[in-house]
Amino acid sequence: MLVSPMAERNKELILEVLADYVDDTSSAFGLELGSGTGQHIVHFARGLPSVTWQPSEISPVSQQSIRAYIRATKVTNVQEPLTIDVSQPWSQWAGLAQGCCDFIVIINLLHMTESDLEGMFKGIGQLLKTGGICLVYGPFAMNGIILPECNVQLDETLQARNPEWGLRDVEELRQLANTNALWLERMVAMPEYTHCLIFRRRQLSER
Ligand SMILES: C[S@@+](CC[C@H](N)C(=O)[O-])C[C@H]1O[C@@H](n2cnc3c(N)ncnc32)[C@H](O)[C@@H]1O
Repeated sequence: MLVSPMAERNKELILEVLADYVDDTSSAFGLELGSGTGQHIVHFARGLPSVTWQPSEISPVSQQSIRAYIRATKVTNVQEPLTIDVSQPWSQWAGLAQGCCDFIVIINLLHMTESDLEGMFKGIGQLLKTGGICLVYGPFAMNGIILPECNVQLDETLQARNPEWGLRDVEELRQLANTNALWLERMVAMPEYTHCLIFRRRQLSER
């Protein structure tokens, strides 16, 4: 089982935001993209038992860790991890059906993937049901500005590792959302200069 200290610190705080959107009297389906170690998804599964959780990862090592967390915690509402590469078109995201998700959760992925965000947001818009929620957590730029200094340094370090990595701008994400039947409904400031962005899937007729 891999252990991410950061995941250990933020998992409960993210769960508290997510819980605002979960009706614990009806069943739901939640997909996580880039699940990493598996620490988040088993924590969400325990805290939100009405949701069937679907982890996914590109990395086989992370998939092994997710399986180990499922076994160790004995959660019964987490499915086996799927192989999903978010840089591929959503039609290749493990055969998930259009409109199958009530929730999509993306934690600390956007600034560490070279995927084209346009394709990813298209996938989110296609997979979410009308009214469904996508929670995106991480550090972000706001209108081209990165604050504070530690996030500027993080951005520089990421870009030195991979020129396509780096903090994403909330305004860019808002626009991508708008073109994919999603709107940025809420932004929650979190510790360590991070935010939760809550996108909701709107009806196609809504503007
Ligand atoms: C910084 S880690 C975050 C993991 C986890 N969500 C967390 O917060 O602990 C980024 C994760 O995204 C995965 N990843 C990177 N590129 C990906 C891609 N193209 N498709 C799916 N997952 C990807 C990596 O394998 C890694 O586990």
